[in-house]
Amino acid sequence: MDSQISSPIPVIFDTDPGIDDALALALLACHPGFDLVAVTAVFGNGPVETTTRNARGLTALFGKDIPVAAGASGPLLDKRRRKDAAHVHGDDGLGGVAARLPEPARALDPRPAHQLICDMVNARPGEITLVAVGPFTNLALALAHDASIAGKVKRVVVMGGAFGLKGHAGNVSPVAEANIMADPEAADQVFTAAWPVTIVGLDVTQEAIMREADLAKLRGRGDGAGELLWLATRHYQQFYDARDGIGGIYAHDASAAAILLVPEAFTLRAGPVRVALEGIATGQTIQDWRNEHGTGTPWSGHPSQQVCVEVDAPRVLALFDEIF
Ligand code: BDR
Ligand code: CA
Repeated sequence: MDSQISSPIPVIFDTDPGIDDALALALLACHPGFDLVAVTAVFGNGPVETTTRNARGLTALFGKDIPVAAGASGPLLDKRRRKDAAHVHGDDGLGGVAARLPEPARALDPRPAHQLICDMVNARPGEITLVAVGPFTNLALALAHDASIAGKVKRVVVMGGAFGLKGHAGNVSPVAEANIMADPEAADQVFTAAWPVTIVGLDVTQEAIMREADLAKLRGRGDGAGELLWLATRHYQQFYDARDGIGGIYAHDASAAAILLVPEAFTLRAGPVRVALEGIATGQTIQDWRNEHGTGTPWSGHPSQQVCVEVDAPRVLALFDEIF
């Protein structure tokens, strides 16, 4: 099946750019299958001031004149401490290339991210897909601000979590993935809300490896945008080469965009998902997919959500040949 679809998918992108976030934003902004309507920034790969600046500069780089709003500067609960991600994404969140981003022509949207999300979803009930690839604080705040949006969002797709498939467990603790660990309470609220969530976790994103040769193919394309992505990924690749020796990077956040264009490349598993909020397993994502535990469990009464358990990685990576 051709990944090209006739009616572009309206998306709000909630992100903490972030090098792999930048690759996801390239797909969302530049692939004809998407109609990117807004970008909201959240703390995560850097402080929210940094991720907001990056979100604005990247949106301008990719030629989109759309609202960009700043969101949460930290998790819902003060007791959570943000882990510094500078060793992964660089001090500027973009592997040292943030200063090369264009100056955005459009002013920062004055609304907080959660307000922008609620306004846009209410204005287009049943139409908007939320793609969230940072800590899920903005989404949790949006639900708290206006619970009715749960029934008006078309779909939520998140990059986050790890379910232990194919040996993929946590990346910031033996069981916890970074976006969940940054705000476990927010993640649990998002997964238990009455909206359809698709969870694209490490189980599949660590199978979607963009090798150095794949990344080099971006060079010279997109009026400088491809070159900038290539340069940004140098820092990210160094981190993953040293840690996992993969000769490239994981397409974590881009996988969450990809599932909307090539759903047939992913295998899903249904069942309610909860997040461990205390103890050594804090941040672990656990799905009750066997549905045989009866009532009175932490999963009972919560909506069934979709977890990605397998991916046809070449289908995901091929999408980068369809932009710029
Ligand atoms: C996630 O954490 C961040 O560092 C990446 O941008 C991605 O969203 C991967 O665990
Ligand atoms: Ca991210």
